[in-house]
Amino acid sequence: MKKFEINTEITSYDGVEELSAPIRALMKKAIEAKSSAYAPYSKFRVGAAILLENGQIITGNNQENAAYPSGICAERVAVWHASSQYPNQQMKAIAIAASSASQQLSEPIAPCGACRQALSEYELKQGAKLPVYFMGEVGKVIGVQSVMDLLPMAFDKSFL
Ligand code: THU
Repeated sequence: MKKFEINTEITSYDGVEELSAPIRALMKKAIEAKSSAYAPYSKFRVGAAILLENGQIITGNNQENAAYPSGICAERVAVWHASSQYPNQQMKAIAIAASSASQQLSEPIAPCGACRQALSEYELKQGAKLPVYFMGEVGKVIGVQSVMDLLPMAFDKSFL
């Protein structure tokens, strides 16, 4: 038997003002993207913004459906938009922001497992880390330098 540890480096920023200028601008786009979320059921709005290597920013937001599982998260709307429209552009970072009608979210809202898996595909494809930053409505921002920091022992194409 052998035990091992997996270490993750996570940075906690006290607020958006502590972010670098490009990441702060990216988070601003994620915050703006929340406003066009279609979330009539959960009333939980999420916005995501991806910075491409050419400087363009691709945004997405959650899109819900009366058949609940047919809805989709903001991160996957954004990453699939980016990959489908700009397949050869490296993704430099993704920022995610969330807000809820029922309470002010002052803690960072982490991307769900399915979105981590979807993002990991593109990080692997591009062969370069994709840093992830996420927050609630106000307050702290969490940053990691790679999707893999949020998804240790991920399933990937090497298993196929
Ligand atoms: N949601 C996202 O957009 N991203 C996540 O990572 C977690 C959850 C959305 C899905 C659904 O529309 C609402 O938030 C409540 O789960």
